[in-house]
Amino acid sequence: MPESPIRKLVPYAEKAKKNGIEVFHLNIGQPDIKTPSVALEAIKNNTVEVLAYSRSEGSEEYRKKIAKYYVSKNINVNSDEIIVTTGGSEALLFAMGSITDPGDEIIIPEPFYANYIGFSIASGVNIVPVVSKIENNFALPEISEFEKLISSKTKAILICNPGNPTGYLYSKDEIKKLAEIVKKYDLFLIADEVYREFVYDNAQHHSVLNGFGLEKHAIIIDSVSKRYSMCGARIGCLVSKNKEVLNTALKFAQARLSPPTFAQIASEAALETPQSYFDEVINEYKDRRDTLITALNKIDGVKVAIPKGAFYCVAELPVDDADKFAQWILEDFSLNKQTVMVAPAAGFYSTKGIGTNQIRIAYVLKKEDLIKSVEILKAAIKKYNTI
Ligand SMILES: Cc1ncc(COP(=O)(O)O)c(C=O)c1O
Repeated sequence: MPESPIRKLVPYAEKAKKNGIEVFHLNIGQPDIKTPSVALEAIKNNTVEVLAYSRSEGSEEYRKKIAKYYVSKNINVNSDEIIVTTGGSEALLFAMGSITDPGDEIIIPEPFYANYIGFSIASGVNIVPVVSKIENNFALPEISEFEKLISSKTKAILICNPGNPTGYLYSKDEIKKLAEIVKKYDLFLIADEVYREFVYDNAQHHSVLNGFGLEKHAIIIDSVSKRYSMCGARIGCLVSKNKEVLNTALKFAQARLSPPTFAQIASEAALETPQSYFDEVINEYKDRRDTLITALNKIDGVKVAIPKGAFYCVAELPVDDADKFAQWILEDFSLNKQTVMVAPAAGFYSTKGIGTNQIRIAYVLKKEDLIKSVEILKAAIKKYNTI
């Protein structure tokens, strides 16, 4: 199993904190946004006496409400096409386990969410990467690049939309092209849509189950973690209209008995979150994105892709090795007793040797802290390049 590039520098951050340094965490997608009060109230006011298992596929009431949520997003699914999971993480494991045998391959545009590597290793699946480039803002690579890589072992293409770590939002045309290729070669299209709500500049999110004729091919991965700032609830779901996929995924679900019961109560209530909550949160993230990107662009030699969704960006730094730099900045650098923790981006690629001077930044901190963080990065880059 690979180390998580997001968490591997934690011991250095902890040491810095022990030495009295304040560390701004730009490394992890843990939002500081408050969880909707409807979700928290549902737990506080609950009088449950036995915290029992739920059904393996999740509670019936909750699944019915999730289906309604999807219909409101023009994603036409029924409750029996949803399996509630322990986070989007487990949905990814179930999806990979359900459609592959050991030794099979999944094509993924890179950079991609680093834990896809861990999940594929756990499933005995090989990732075949297609490189997307910072110069193109990480747009979908040409379809011919995917076609070149399809073999008898290829079972699926996996996309993250909007993307972690890139913030890229796929256009309708890009999803259409992917739909054509998965239908042509009879593959699955797994779409990790956990950041569905987080799109900026009035752009529109296009779900793979919204009008692309992918009923047999699409599997959606979803989660309450980011949508409602409920990362600790550990609730997500797998959605598919393909009965065989659902039947197989259910066997995985039965093996682990049940998703967390209490957190399903909170997640069900979270579906009542008013639109005003999202309007505010999305506005806040958009402001943070603009603040961060403007500040990063002012540093000499820094290149940054403008995210259209989610709350991450990938930045290329004028340093020899972002891994070394990220550790050094925690161990040996501070500005006014403050420093930053970033995620080296090499861990988001499976091709060795690319992304080595890139970092991922999560803009999950308030604007003042983002501004301070970029000041620290700027001073650190200058000093690092003189030692
Ligand atoms: C793209 C993506 N997919 C899935 C997950 C898994 O989230 P969870 O298991 O908390 O639902 C994350 C978490 O950061 C993510 O960024």
